[in-house]
Amino acid sequence: MNALNSIVFVLTVFTTIVAADRKLHVEWNPGCVLEDHCSKFSKLTYIRADGENDTVHFVLDATFKPSLVIVVTNRDAVIQVNYTADRENNIKFTESPHYTFASVFNNLYEFNDVNDTANIKNGQNFIKMDFKKFHWNTTQSINNNNESVEILLTSNSYRAPGINKTGIVSVTLKVYGKKDIGSKLPHLVHTPESGELTLTLNNLNTNFTKSRFAIELLTFSSFPFNKTEELSSNTFSDDKLSGGTFLNYLLNAKGDVEGGGFLSWKPVVYKAENTHALNSSSTIQYDIHDYHYENDWINTPLFNMYGNSLFGNSSQFLLKSFNVSFGQPNDEFYAKSNYTYWTFLVGIGAPPNSSLGFLELSIIASLLLMLTITMILIFCIFMRWMSSKRNSLVYGQ
Ligand SMILES: *[C@@H]1O[C@H](CO)[C@@H](O)[C@H](O)[C@H]1NC(C)=O
Ligand SMILES: *[C@@H]1O[C@H](CO)[C@@H](O)[C@H](O)[C@H]1NC(C)=O
Ligand SMILES: *[C@@H]1O[C@H](CO)[C@@H](O)[C@H](O)[C@H]1NC(C)=O
Ligand SMILES: *[C@@H]1O[C@H](CO)[C@@H](O)[C@H](O)[C@H]1NC(C)=O
Ligand SMILES: *[C@@H]1O[C@H](CO)[C@@H](O)[C@H](O)[C@H]1NC(C)=O
Ligand SMILES: *[C@@H]1O[C@H](CO)[C@@H](O)[C@H](O)[C@H]1NC(C)=O
Ligand SMILES: *[C@@H]1O[C@H](CO)[C@@H](O)[C@H](O)[C@H]1NC(C)=O
Ligand SMILES: *[C@@H]1O[C@H](CO)[C@@H](O)[C@H](O)[C@H]1NC(C)=O
Ligand SMILES: *[C@@H]1O[C@H](CO)[C@@H](O)[C@H](O)[C@H]1NC(C)=O
Ligand SMILES: *[C@@H]1O[C@H](CO)[C@@H](O)[C@H](O)[C@H]1NC(C)=O
Ligand SMILES: *[C@@H]1O[C@H](CO)[C@@H](O)[C@H](O)[C@H]1NC(C)=O
Ligand SMILES: *[C@@H]1O[C@H](CO)[C@@H](O)[C@H](O)[C@H]1NC(C)=O
Repeated sequence: MNALNSIVFVLTVFTTIVAADRKLHVEWNPGCVLEDHCSKFSKLTYIRADGENDTVHFVLDATFKPSLVIVVTNRDAVIQVNYTADRENNIKFTESPHYTFASVFNNLYEFNDVNDTANIKNGQNFIKMDFKKFHWNTTQSINNNNESVEILLTSNSYRAPGINKTGIVSVTLKVYGKKDIGSKLPHLVHTPESGELTLTLNNLNTNFTKSRFAIELLTFSSFPFNKTEELSSNTFSDDKLSGGTFLNYLLNAKGDVEGGGFLSWKPVVYKAENTHALNSSSTIQYDIHDYHYENDWINTPLFNMYGNSLFGNSSQFLLKSFNVSFGQPNDEFYAKSNYTYWTFLVGIGAPPNSSLGFLELSIIASLLLMLTITMILIFCIFMRWMSSKRNSLVYGQ
């Protein structure tokens, strides 16, 4: 009975992994007939990831604030964008989505870390840069027979009253059709239901020699939820994967039903393009707040999808925000290398780190071992019994 259970368990684990692969398909401004007209109003990159029973749609919009919206629908649902209509509600799906989760780059902050605490709460002389005021350029590349897609948004300057920044700020989205481990540090485990977002700040000129940067991210969840989103951290059981970074942060929008959306990252940034452990520093993450400031949400594709139903007391959505700052005390500030690289995962369903960790793998391995030993034992006993039976037949003992 035990052996049967473990066979069933092992089989389910492996079939879920195999069945979870998705076919990717990319489009720029999907459904647009007059490209010149559309690209005036819209910088939409769309990735469709078709699974066996459902489709995951990744909408990366750089029209205003760079935003990644992940939508799950039935297998056949198609995105429909009306480029001639008002923005409110002009993105629809032919079948209503089961679930939507999103992450938005809201603001970039520079602050003067006079006492080298690396904590934004001790910062001075804040400079707030709205992510929508960078002018985003988009490039896209598709790798390995459509098994992964990479979208790059870059901007080379920021101009606003009292702010004149040069340097390259970029946001990269990577989506993979298979579950795997990122090839570069910090080796985040991605699933076909998640996208990896990377922010790089390359050669930004700073106002102060002790400048550090931080970002404010927004998250959106559509599930019938109990109005909670939790930030938790857990130590990572497999040290080989994380290159010395044992901690993992998980921001989880838990629904009443299993499987909301999540953000997941390791508290590490890199100070060079070469993401080597020797060139790393830390992040600090701060409390999650409710965030109902309409002007910011209006600058996201969520407004294109949900319009004014995002707001008000009867809103069915979870709207949250939180800050992450880059750097740790004594790391010689941003100016040490004038480069920051931070990466995190945005996805839906079970967060990958908890789904098949080292612990689970070792349990499966030991079950398989036990099963094999049991089979061998049964086989031996059976052979003994057979030969003793044959002996008794031949010699009549
Ligand atoms: C798709 O649905 C079928 C039938 O309900 C089920 O057997 C199969 O496991 C599902 N596949 C995935 C990837 O969930
Ligand atoms: C798009 O919106 C415009 C203006 O609201 C409307 O006239 C047009 O019929 C819409 N197109 C489609 C395909 O729905
Ligand atoms: C920095 O440290 C000095 C001396 O300890 C203190 O007076 C000052 O308030 C600190 N500044 C900030 C922003 O924490
Ligand atoms: C990759 O996807 C594109 C469309 O997104 C398609 O035209 C092409 O044939 C696909 N290539 C492979 C090898 O599947
Ligand atoms: C965007 O790319 C075009 C062509 O590659 C270039 O001319 C332009 O300067 C870029 N703009 C920004 C803001 O990076
Ligand atoms: C940053 O420097 C610019 C000039 O480059 C100046 O106009 C601005 O006031 C400075 N900001 C702060 C917060 O010191
Ligand atoms: C912004 O800075 C650049 C380089 O630092 C400079 O060439 C440009 O004149 C400045 N623009 C303004 C409006 O100050
Ligand atoms: C959500 O709230 C309802 C009623 O307040 C409660 O019955 C249910 O157990 C809650 N679900 C979770 C996952 O906390
Ligand atoms: C760390 O970054 C510096 C440049 O800032 C580079 O010269 C060095 O090779 C990097 N070290 C590693 C181990 O990648
Ligand atoms: C929304 O709720 C707040 C406080 O709970 C209340 O003061 C306000 O009148 C409500 N607004 C509407 C439109 O119901
Ligand atoms: C992020 O930090 C900035 C600067 O201290 C602050 O104004 C903002 O309210 C913070 N946002 C959140 C969500 O804590
Ligand atoms: C970073 O930029 C500042 C000027 O903004 C410069 O003083 C410093 O030397 C630069 N650091 C490196 C490592 O190039």
